[in-house]
Amino acid sequence: MDPVHNPFKPGAGLRPPILAGRDSLFGDFDIVRRRITELGEGDRSWVLTGLRGVGKTVFIGELERIALNEGWIVAKMEVRKGHPLAAELASTLASGLRQASGRFDRAKLARLLGVFKSFTMSLNLGVVKLDLDIAPAAGYADSGRLAPDLTDLFVELGQTARELGVGALILIDELQDATAEEMAAVSTAVHQISQSSPVLPLFLVGAGLPSLPSQLAIANSYAERLYQFRRLSTLGESDSRAALVQPVIERNAEWDVAALQVALDAANGYPYFLQEVGKAVWNFAPGPRFRLEDARVGVDIARDEVNSGLYQSRWDRATPAQRDLLRALASKGDGDGVVVRDLARAMGRSSASALSVPRDELIKKGLVYAPERGVLAFTVPGFHQFIQAQD
Ligand SMILES: Nc1ncnc2c1ncn2[C@@H]1O[C@H](COP(=O)(O)OP(=O)(O)OP(=O)(O)O)[C@@H](O)[C@H]1O
Ligand SMILES: [Mg+2]
Repeated sequence: MDPVHNPFKPGAGLRPPILAGRDSLFGDFDIVRRRITELGEGDRSWVLTGLRGVGKTVFIGELERIALNEGWIVAKMEVRKGHPLAAELASTLASGLRQASGRFDRAKLARLLGVFKSFTMSLNLGVVKLDLDIAPAAGYADSGRLAPDLTDLFVELGQTARELGVGALILIDELQDATAEEMAAVSTAVHQISQSSPVLPLFLVGAGLPSLPSQLAIANSYAERLYQFRRLSTLGESDSRAALVQPVIERNAEWDVAALQVALDAANGYPYFLQEVGKAVWNFAPGPRFRLEDARVGVDIARDEVNSGLYQSRWDRATPAQRDLLRALASKGDGDGVVVRDLARAMGRSSASALSVPRDELIKKGLVYAPERGVLAFTVPGFHQFIQAQD
């Protein structure tokens, strides 16, 4: 089939043709949206977690689109290791504010812009170009400490949004890579928002790997009660089917039943793999009907793509001691995690603590995480199969 018309979209943050299986989350966000729009009242912010490639970035991209459609003030950022969160946030918020200053009465934004200026100056964030001639607001966001200054900024943003009759949406992707201090500051600021009565219409969505809730809890003792935790899982059978079938039908092609089943079995509900398989089968299939043979070849091509793009580089980065641990973990499958004590036993080690060095290193590299104390799991779906196939 003509690759130019290929609807599938494998790749980080690329919007798939069908965003399958997320209706109930969108429904929940719609309640937040309506509360804010109709009542001017916020809600408990979200922490969204999921394994690599399940669709976190795509999902928050959709939330951004919805909020922008509503005329809200929106800031979307991605935490990058070694880069201060405050600086990234300030630069994305600057563009949100620049857009707002074109849409709203400047007088109503003046205070917020002043607090924003204080925030950037006191935290030495360098020059954040606002292209607006504004003086810093004395006494606000100017302590030079992240938690109180971020709190002042969020409160002012929430109050301004309320006065303007809109909401403010802050989206922070890869939040697991923030420092504990940054996480604590974000939680402190969100806490302050939720303390006002009624709750200010500022909504924050932090997205990250499944380790994020416990990282937030360590950084801040009340984080567990502060947020609503939402999990993006791999897709069930009928959602996977929709993700593969609908985009094809819309372009006047179709899957043979057996071909579809081969693709579904291979992808196993993993959204990123569904896109890779869909793309490969489409490109390989000669005709508008995808046959069993097309699916088999497509699955192999897709698997090569996923291996080289996702698994191989992670495997290459692991030291021999780390690989031993990964192998042991892989031999137990792809479930919700394996007890480290059992891994130690399987590896002939005396105790779980004998594995603590490679374990900590692999967590730092983002290859595994601890779903709970003393348990280990992969951050990437399907990694176990790749490892099992290595000599
Ligand atoms: N609901 C969905 N239905 C079908 N495909 C999806 C869905 N969500 C995401 N995808 C596809 O999965 C791939 C990964 O999406 P995305 O980059 O959003 O994942 P992620 O969770 O942010 O991954 P990472 O943790 O690596 O950042 C993309 O190719 C995207 O098109
Ligand atoms: Mg992502």
